[in-house]
Amino acid sequence: MGRPIIQHPEDLVRLQEAVYHLKPDVIIETGIAHGGSLVLSASLLKAMGHGRLVVGVDIEIRPHNRKAIEAHELFPMIRLIEGDSTAPAIVAQAASHVRKGDKVLVILDSNHSRAHVLKELEAYHRLVTPGSYLVATDGIMRDLATVPRGQPGWKTDNPAQAAKEFAAAHPEFVIEPPAWRFNESELDKAITGWPDAWLRRTR
Ligand SMILES: C[S@@+](CC[C@H](N)C(=O)[O-])C[C@H]1O[C@@H](n2cnc3c(N)ncnc32)[C@H](O)[C@@H]1O
Repeated sequence: MGRPIIQHPEDLVRLQEAVYHLKPDVIIETGIAHGGSLVLSASLLKAMGHGRLVVGVDIEIRPHNRKAIEAHELFPMIRLIEGDSTAPAIVAQAASHVRKGDKVLVILDSNHSRAHVLKELEAYHRLVTPGSYLVATDGIMRDLATVPRGQPGWKTDNPAQAAKEFAAAHPEFVIEPPAWRFNESELDKAITGWPDAWLRRTR
């Protein structure tokens, strides 16, 4: 809807289906870039007629991106927070938009180093409602270490690694992508940039 989004299309369809079935009140996203993912999330809440806000956090919201996001028709459903997603004051600012009883989905798409994602997982997991998800995107880095523009360190320094370590330390979260609701093929694996990304809160 008018803003660039930096995701693989299949992940967006899977996300759309997950959001539809979850019906969150608030979606918190780290990593705004051009605002495409914020606008997509807001469009889903609007289309469902359910959900209040999409809260975006980015260490740098470039002025032309801010201007375009603020001018978007869906901006009334979007809040922008500028700062390091793991800084306690920024996490508190994001959390301040959540009301008691809200169903909350959190999507992490900022700095993709294992260390940063682990810090984000620790910082945001308490906001995730049981039954909802904490999504550590872009774990595909682990399979791209040797391709052009990849880095050898990505084999272990990636969000999927962080998600696995987080799940091992937090038994209330399991790595479990949302079920495919419609599948007339024999396939059971998504073409995804988000392997081992979906941490479902069980309790
Ligand atoms: C992959 S882009 C986000 C893409 C967006 N979610 C989308 O789907 O189009 C990553 C963003 O994370 C931001 N970022 C990097 N380090 C960060 C940090 N420590 N805290 C918050 N944001 C950060 C960058 O400024 C960049 O805009």
